[in-house]
Amino acid sequence: MSHLIAPSILAADFANLQRDIEMVNNSEADWFHIDVMDGVFVPNISFGIPVIKAIKKHAKKVMDVHLMIVDPDRYITDFKKAGADILTVHYEACNHLHRTVQAIKAEDMKAGVSLNPHTPVSVLEDIIKDLDLVLIMSVNPGFGGQSFIENTYKKIIQLRVLIEKSGSNAVIEIDGGVNDKNCPKLVAAGADVLVAGSFVFKSDNPTDTIAKLRGL
Ligand code: DX5
Ligand code: ZN
Repeated sequence: MSHLIAPSILAADFANLQRDIEMVNNSEADWFHIDVMDGVFVPNISFGIPVIKAIKKHAKKVMDVHLMIVDPDRYITDFKKAGADILTVHYEACNHLHRTVQAIKAEDMKAGVSLNPHTPVSVLEDIIKDLDLVLIMSVNPGFGGQSFIENTYKKIIQLRVLIEKSGSNAVIEIDGGVNDKNCPKLVAAGADVLVAGSFVFKSDNPTDTIAKLRGL
């Protein structure tokens, strides 16, 4: 499989959301990456379920929802109803991660777990076989437009070893500070899916930028 590109809607123009969703629909992008922030787990608030429902009305690609919220178990059914295909929770936000992952799967969604930059890959050892996706944060979660953390490459290589050793089918997604410079290195290290927010939406031609990232 060649790598996939998931533009992050956090960097879209919220006053022209339908226009930006259509741009993604008509581009070579693979998924919509949708960031939910609660102002508690991360020091920022983004948007919630009504906005995801509105995106779903127009989006023609996979809805990859990244929850940066505490106690996500409370809302799993709501995110399913809103249109999520993949639901990713943070390792650091779950007390009973195994239960949370099973609850996501019981709603017929793919289950992802995300790791903050300071959280080692090894904490996933006993859950990796249950996961469809691991999201490695390559910035501290909460904001778009931050600089990529170089330690990410090492984590991708460690995660690939863990996935292969355990026979897991999880894909590796990278989120934060992705651009045309680090994209080839991330793919070479073993990344399957790259999230890109600012680099896509702040570029002169987002459609071309997506195509370029996909081809790199
Ligand atoms: C950060 C979010 C990212 C963000 C990435 O907490 O999870 O998805 O939108 O934005 P860029 O690509 O601008 O770093
Ligand atoms: Zn994200």
